[in-house]
Amino acid sequence: MNFQLKDKVALITGSTSGIGYATAKLLLQEKAIVYINGRTSSSVSQAIQQLKSEVKKAKVFGKVGDFNHSKTAHLITADLPHIDILINNVGVYDSSPFFETPDSTWENHFQVNVMSGVRLSRILLKGMLDSNWGRILFISSECAYLVPTDMVSYSASKAMLHAISKGLAQLTKSSGVTVNVVAPGSTLSKGAEEFLSQKIKSSEKKKNEVVQEFFSAERSQSLLQRFTSPEEIAQTIVYLCSPLSSATNGAIIKSEGGSTSGVF
Ligand SMILES: NC(=O)c1ccc[n+]([C@@H]2O[C@H](COP(=O)([O-])OP(=O)(O)OC[C@H]3O[C@@H](n4cnc5c(N)ncnc54)[C@H](OP(=O)(O)O)[C@@H]3O)[C@@H](O)[C@H]2O)c1
Repeated sequence: MNFQLKDKVALITGSTSGIGYATAKLLLQEKAIVYINGRTSSSVSQAIQQLKSEVKKAKVFGKVGDFNHSKTAHLITADLPHIDILINNVGVYDSSPFFETPDSTWENHFQVNVMSGVRLSRILLKGMLDSNWGRILFISSECAYLVPTDMVSYSASKAMLHAISKGLAQLTKSSGVTVNVVAPGSTLSKGAEEFLSQKIKSSEKKKNEVVQEFFSAERSQSLLQRFTSPEEIAQTIVYLCSPLSSATNGAIIKSEGGSTSGVF
């Protein structure tokens, strides 16, 4: 399918692996120009090499920066060209009971999951409005709806993105810019693998047992009853980056395999 993304310039945070990486790859296959991001120059250059080996003539560049630091958004955008597409994908999560979750975890989730996108949007949205075209996507989570008791701070940080995205969408009135949220479900990325290993370690069970238990106990409403792949989520993200999605603005698109209840 031609998503009409040739030569559009995209910045994807947290994209050396997982959903961000899969999105970078798909955008490159659509002939977009992609800036990926990770915390170290080695992880970023490794991901660039891999993308170049997977996609012929890929126009992919790297921006090293840790969004736990407030200056990162400014530092990584300082010498960027005009950005058409901003994908606020970076997100950190861990499993810890509410009573044992320290302030530092709440602060880390707020800085990385929320403020990274706030700061980058503050820098890049005006340019999109000036050129009358742009896409901003916030990658949320099914946890914004489910709020598991061992992921309260993560879930709260993701729920915040819904309000921020809605607010920014209202700034785009009568323009060709859209701002939307994609809410994935449990997806087998590196981060999710680590999350699973924590569970395997603490329960001393086998991986398939842990996965089965996870879906029957913690994601019982999931219609898929399996982890999605990063590529499955990337397909939804890339559609929303495309000019083809021009009628969708201020929306929350769930790619959670039906894990959240209710009609909305
Ligand atoms: N996986 C899931 O089950 C799931 C479900 C729902 C929503 N989501 C959301 O989807 C998004 C992507 O998740 P994922 O599971 O694909 O990612 P992941 O595998 O956990 O994330 C890895 C990526 O994030 C980068 N990263 C981590 N901390 C960073 C920081 N402080 N600053 C800059 N980059 C950082 C890593 O870069 P380096 O290692 O190179 O530094 C790597 O590129 C997140 O917002 C997540 O909350 C995930």
